[in-house]
Amino acid sequence: MEETKKKVMLSGIQPSGDLHLGNYLGAIKNWGARADEFDCYYFMADMHTITVRQVPADLRRRTLTQLAQYIACGLDPEKNTLFIQSHVPAHAELGWVLNCYTMFGELSRMTQFKDKSAKHADNINGGLFTYPALMAADILLYQPDYVPVGNDQKQHVELTRNVAQRFNNIYGDVFKIPEPYIPKTGARIMSLNDPTSKMSKSIPEGCVFLMEKPEDIQRKFKRAITDSDTEHCVRFDPENKPGVSNLMNIYSAVTGKTMAEIESEFDGKGYGVFKPAVGEAVIECLRPIREETERILKDKAYLESIYKAGDEKAAYVAGKTLRKVYKKVGFVAR
Ligand code: TRP
Repeated sequence: MEETKKKVMLSGIQPSGDLHLGNYLGAIKNWGARADEFDCYYFMADMHTITVRQVPADLRRRTLTQLAQYIACGLDPEKNTLFIQSHVPAHAELGWVLNCYTMFGELSRMTQFKDKSAKHADNINGGLFTYPALMAADILLYQPDYVPVGNDQKQHVELTRNVAQRFNNIYGDVFKIPEPYIPKTGARIMSLNDPTSKMSKSIPEGCVFLMEKPEDIQRKFKRAITDSDTEHCVRFDPENKPGVSNLMNIYSAVTGKTMAEIESEFDGKGYGVFKPAVGEAVIECLRPIREETERILKDKAYLESIYKAGDEKAAYVAGKTLRKVYKKVGFVAR
């Protein structure tokens, strides 16, 4: 019987902050199902985070917490390769090589570099500048077909394609040229206290974190902004009722109910009934994720066994590409 090989997908996740409801409903929730169709690699991009200064103990804790959270959100370690970037030396090794095939001019045009160097003017280091070459290495090592990224990372994937093409033009077909994969978006969740901006950790009062205590979640929902129109009813109208519509979006995403069902459920009831009901539904949706994350984090041996298995598989695949590259550029075989 002929085995059809699944297409390969790879993505890196920076362990730079706590995950929130917007991340979950908008993206992560859908990732578990991808494994049916694709051979998926996800890694904690810890090497990327040190381009800005980190507190070492926090970085370590966040890397493990984030890994545990992704598993709890449905990334099954049996079906996905989950690993830690700094555990697979091939990333740094190919990163160096690709630095030598990435042009100063190209790197200077990266908008993320311009943004981050404006924000951290006291620490515009070489790593911040050459970060896209490391990201190209992260990707090309695994010969993926697709790289799922948000808008802010499209430019880096485009650069990766250019670098891969340049390398292939010199040395023959070494790298597969990956495509950016724009995921089917889940719900677009806005801040609870400003429905015109996306839910983000930078506005903590409007943001519900996955690991937050139920009473804190409920407090945030009770204080959520509703709209100052006079009808005071639960009706989906993003244009004129952005606050209520955002809460309806959240409620719909966590319960699976349609807008019509939600409107009739709360027909004749005010926001004072609606807001805590949304809070309650979110608490119930996040409870198993939080509990599972806590369970995994307590079981250090389990978590370690997962990333060690992932590291090993990743190192095997990455090593094959790296050996090819080293040979092509003229390094003596080890
Ligand atoms: N640069 C990505 C970000 O900031 C993270 C990342 C690092 C990545 N290496 C990657 C994403 C490789 C996709 C593929 O979000």
